[in-house]
Amino acid sequence: MEKTFLMVKPDGVQRNLIGEIVSRFEKKGFQLVGGKLMSIPQALAEEHYGEHKERPFFGELVDFITSGPVFAMVWEGENVIATARQMMGTTNPKDAAPGTIRGDFGVTVGKNIIHGSDSPASAEREIGLFFKEEELVEYAKLMNEWIN
Ligand code: TYD
Ligand code: MG
Repeated sequence: MEKTFLMVKPDGVQRNLIGEIVSRFEKKGFQLVGGKLMSIPQALAEEHYGEHKERPFFGELVDFITSGPVFAMVWEGENVIATARQMMGTTNPKDAAPGTIRGDFGVTVGKNIIHGSDSPASAEREIGLFFKEEELVEYAKLMNEWIN
């Protein structure tokens, strides 16, 4: 089953949006298979955003993502990579549609609440950067057994 890497950025954690964001992906029907609250070391931040290292905003981006704890997650489901990107909204919250996470909660491009992998290759790379194999779980939902 397809997996993606999603992360509530420091602004989302500060604004108490972890639960809201987790809830949106749960309600959509995706399954959480890994998650941790963590501070990103400088080297990991630079590696994670390596594709942007020549861009003028790189320094600010790394400073921001290391400025406070993030909530790193792996989610699983059919087409989860592309669908999660749609649920996040466009990179700049000013253009993001209402109903998307960035459209509903973000204002400026620097602080846009959430990160999500943009392709199967980046999902695999980013999951590997943030999670060890044994930190991810495989499980089936047993709803009726737990409720009754
Ligand atoms: P990018 O990978 O282009 O966007 P996305 O997060 O939607 O995949 O850029 C990574 C992050 O860099 C983006 O979430 C916010 C920041 N950023 C800026 O601060 N200024 C910019 O002009 C751009 C394009 C991105
Ligand atoms: Mg990106």
